[in-house]
Amino acid sequence: MSSARPIIVVAGVGNGSGTGAATARLFAKEGYRVALIARNADHLKNTAAGITAAGGEAVPFPVQAYDAASLTSAFNSIKSQWPDSVLRVAVWNAAHGVWKPFLQITDEEVTEALNTNVRAAFAFSRLAITAFKENDLSEIGKRGALIFTGATASLRGNTTTSAFAAGKFGLRALSQSLNKEFGKDNIHVSHAIIDGGILTDRVRERRNDPNWEANEDVRLSPESIAKSYLYLTNQDRSAWTWELDLRPAHEKW
Ligand SMILES: NC(=O)c1ccc[n+]([C@@H]2O[C@H](COP(=O)([O-])OP(=O)(O)OC[C@H]3O[C@@H](n4cnc5c(N)ncnc54)[C@H](OP(=O)(O)O)[C@@H]3O)[C@@H](O)[C@H]2O)c1
Repeated sequence: MSSARPIIVVAGVGNGSGTGAATARLFAKEGYRVALIARNADHLKNTAAGITAAGGEAVPFPVQAYDAASLTSAFNSIKSQWPDSVLRVAVWNAAHGVWKPFLQITDEEVTEALNTNVRAAFAFSRLAITAFKENDLSEIGKRGALIFTGATASLRGNTTTSAFAAGKFGLRALSQSLNKEFGKDNIHVSHAIIDGGILTDRVRERRNDPNWEANEDVRLSPESIAKSYLYLTNQDRSAWTWELDLRPAHEKW
């Protein structure tokens, strides 16, 4: 790692119980300055405060929406916040889920799913890659790492996932194209298919199943996903992964 502490930006931090926040916490422990992007300013403040209390450095950059204007403004603020540091890692974890039978999905829901899952990811990628291109190579030969969180719906459509899967397929296509285009610039782009339920507050409430919660063999923990993101970031340039798929030990898919 170079002398100025590197920055990681995580977009899609939720309420602090999921993959976004776990990634932020882990990278803070590894010495990164953490820029947190999400729509709920109070949740972001709490997540940043938790990281700071644990000895890390994190600043919230709330956005009105996941769109090009809001993300551009957040990236400008991150640069002003830490002018002596460079952005080394960018994680696109945000998503807009729609789980409904096809004939019940409105045009507005299709627009929202495509805007968050695809269009905003384009804007985020443009900003991250533009910043990475300014960087010198790190000691492992990398200018930056851009990581996307996918889902089972990145690869498989199903009865209620037409809008969500269309977005997640699009995100996967974006990540693969960027991996091919920017590898020659030593920018490492990867995509993680999260093929199972993650133990977040939202999923915990929805499932309401203490057995599922307690059993580490059947669900993903956000901290374990974060470890995989750190692994991707630290990969040597002679063996880069574009795509990982992660699922709990007892998942049979
Ligand atoms: N949870 C799962 O079981 C699961 C499974 C496979 C894949 N994934 C993927 O994992 C990523 C999310 O990570 P995560 O599930 O671990 O959660 P997380 O890190 O807490 O992130 C939650 C994401 O969902 C957004 N969101 C939209 N409506 C929300 C609501 N009502 N409550 C909370 N968050 C809401 C959040 O937006 P703000 O940050 O703006 O609040 C944030 O982008 C997504 O890309 C998702 O497709 C999740």
